[in-house]
Amino acid sequence: SEEPLLAGRRVLITAGGTIERLDPVRYITNDSSGKMGFAIAAAARRMGAEVVLVAGNTSAGSFPEGVQHVQALSAQEMYDAVLRRLADTDIVIMAAAVSDYRPKSVAPQKMKKTGENLILELERTPDILQTVGQRKGKTFVVGFAAETEHLEEYAMDKLQRKNCDLLVANDVSQEGAGFGTDTNIAQIYNKDGLLENLPMMTKPEMACRLLRIIASTLEAAGDR
Ligand code: C5P
Repeated sequence: SEEPLLAGRRVLITAGGTIERLDPVRYITNDSSGKMGFAIAAAARRMGAEVVLVAGNTSAGSFPEGVQHVQALSAQEMYDAVLRRLADTDIVIMAAAVSDYRPKSVAPQKMKKTGENLILELERTPDILQTVGQRKGKTFVVGFAAETEHLEEYAMDKLQRKNCDLLVANDVSQEGAGFGTDTNIAQIYNKDGLLENLPMMTKPEMACRLLRIIASTLEAAGDR
């Protein structure tokens, strides 16, 4: 059994991919399974936290027990679900793969095909993590970054730009890391640089390691 390192902490985790609708029967999504976020939610609960899991489109199986589940399929729904709860949250962990773009307009009826090519216009979605970083107050904020190159440079840039306390960087070009896999490989950065190198391990194991790092960072900051 797990030590109650997060007893009394209110933790919000986002997980899975978002769905951005084109019309009533079509949408844009990505390969995120939600496994990493689900594993973090389950581990945080075992460590004594009060957990809210804001889930998009997932294929990670059933929701972890003892966790409050909020469904938020689109980037906008996820933005609303997270921002509404921010002031009542001690730790936010953004493991979701949020779509960067969405169709500029959503057709109210099923779109009909024509003989012509179809050009879709996409617009940017709101950046949830960036907004959370701007409004975080005392909330501890953890971001994720999936990269295929220049891991450290991109991770540090993202950490600063989005005002995160920790950033978990995954090199998704490596075997055993990233979308859909049961294992992950990660480097954890704080504002001073590389904090911890986590070799390939299962997502539940990585979830525990990450939460212990968060707990000890909070403890070191004297926030008990
Ligand atoms: O910029 P990038 O998408 O690589 O940043 C990844 C991090 O930002 C993840 O923690 C992801 O959940 C979050 N994110 C977000 N809202 C977006 C895009 C990314 O919260 N629109």
